[in-house]
Amino acid sequence: PNKVDAICCIGAGYVGGPTMAVIAKQCPHLKVKVVDVNKDRIAAWNDKCLDNLPIYEPGLSEVISETRGRNLFFSTDISKAIQESQMIFISVNTPTKTYGVGRGMAADLKFVELCARQIAELANEDKIIVEKSTLPVRTAQSIKQILSAYQNGCQFRVLSNPEFLAEGTAISDLLNADRVLIGSEDDELGKRAEEALVDIYSHWIPKERIIRTRIWSSELSKLTANAFLAQRVSSINAISALCEQTGADVDEVAHAIGMDSRIGSKFLKSSVGFGGSCFQKDILNLVYLCRHFNLPEVADYWEQVVHLNDYQKHRFSKKIIDTLFNTVSGKKIAFLGWAFKKNTNDTRESAAIYIADELLQDRAEIHIYDPQVSEEKIFSDLEFLQNNRREYHLNNTSRFESIKMDRIRKLVHVHSDPYAAMHKAHAIAVLTEWDEFKTYDWQRIYKDMLKPAFTFDGRNILSKKMLDEIGFETYNIGKGE
Ligand code: NAI
Repeated sequence: PNKVDAICCIGAGYVGGPTMAVIAKQCPHLKVKVVDVNKDRIAAWNDKCLDNLPIYEPGLSEVISETRGRNLFFSTDISKAIQESQMIFISVNTPTKTYGVGRGMAADLKFVELCARQIAELANEDKIIVEKSTLPVRTAQSIKQILSAYQNGCQFRVLSNPEFLAEGTAISDLLNADRVLIGSEDDELGKRAEEALVDIYSHWIPKERIIRTRIWSSELSKLTANAFLAQRVSSINAISALCEQTGADVDEVAHAIGMDSRIGSKFLKSSVGFGGSCFQKDILNLVYLCRHFNLPEVADYWEQVVHLNDYQKHRFSKKIIDTLFNTVSGKKIAFLGWAFKKNTNDTRESAAIYIADELLQDRAEIHIYDPQVSEEKIFSDLEFLQNNRREYHLNNTSRFESIKMDRIRKLVHVHSDPYAAMHKAHAIAVLTEWDEFKTYDWQRIYKDMLKPAFTFDGRNILSKKMLDEIGFETYNIGKGE
């Protein structure tokens, strides 16, 4: 295999940061550099105080304190990192396009393309380029085309190595990966590059869990994995609506079907709808690819997973409004949680954003508490939605008018004390499944609220029995009466 003793990763985000930290931990002989154009982000990665790391993940600060300055380095000097490294990971963001051709559907690959051009311009020796970002099928070909257009005498090999970590459990997912997937070109140089990457992972991943495929299969597997995961959530959420109408209990149904080993018990938790930066984006990307390859039936099939997710979010907001006597105008609604899931500070595409928007349309006053999300982030999420409402033609939000930010700042309040957020509230909506919510003094909260005191548990984490006994009016996803 190619000799590799220095690697770098372009993109110091939720994937680049933890992934490279774990490689540095497990391969002390490798020099690992993580670079980014975002100066603030790099400064935060280099912050002496580990509480200030730009992302929150259980176990991350321990890995950083072990490796940072030893063989893990964060920097904004992208050129130097490219020149020093024999292997370059591309882990930049690939959001849904918000303009032009494929807007609202296709992946925006401009950041990936920029990386390829920068590598080609600066390369002084042969390089292995590893696609870590989630990309549409055949992107490797575009990257190769750019690289080979620069006649600088260097050989470039492109590998696909999609990342399967889940936020909130990133470190343990990376340390104990179910599998690592590597796609390579089917020739001698491709195989050598593949071997160099296998070499790195073999330091802690058992050989049988390292899968090698053709490069196109690897690219498509990542989109397919996310489509299947999201489809499972939409499937159980679809059943939750039926449970509510028929008196069935979605958790009982999930348990009963999950015992079938063909179905399996994981990822069958009904909720207010999936969020996160990946599921929706990757499915839309898959749908776009299917349409591009003239497979409309396949495209429609997968698109429905996203429609159902929008329906689930809308159903939840509508339930709150209907239950509060058909209007939430001027009423105080407390939100427990803003992140898209527990144990992360990531809020991208969080269901909470869409629920807040729909309640704001009905003029609610919203008081938010989340243990990890900053006030600044919450307002920027709401602002992003107001400015991009029409871009996502799939989301129901385009039915609404945008609300001005100064009005939003009057109606939305962010608290650092959960009890203050719920003080004199008309209703509480649980939007993230943070464990600490279960341990609150619910008796005290009940006393402090307006009556009737309503709870809307969008994650089914609070004991309905306990809340009922205290006197709350409870709504749980998928629990029929
Ligand atoms: P992110 O937005 O947290 O991080 C991307 C970083 O790349 C940003 O800090 C940005 O400043 C930087 N960047 C963009 N263009 C650059 C350039 N030309 N030069 C240097 N830096 C540049 O994104 P995240 O969540 O880390 O995702 C990255 C990729 O990984 C995406 O393709 C995503 O689909 C994929 N992915 C994400 C997972 C997740 O859980 N977040 C899981 C698996 C894959």
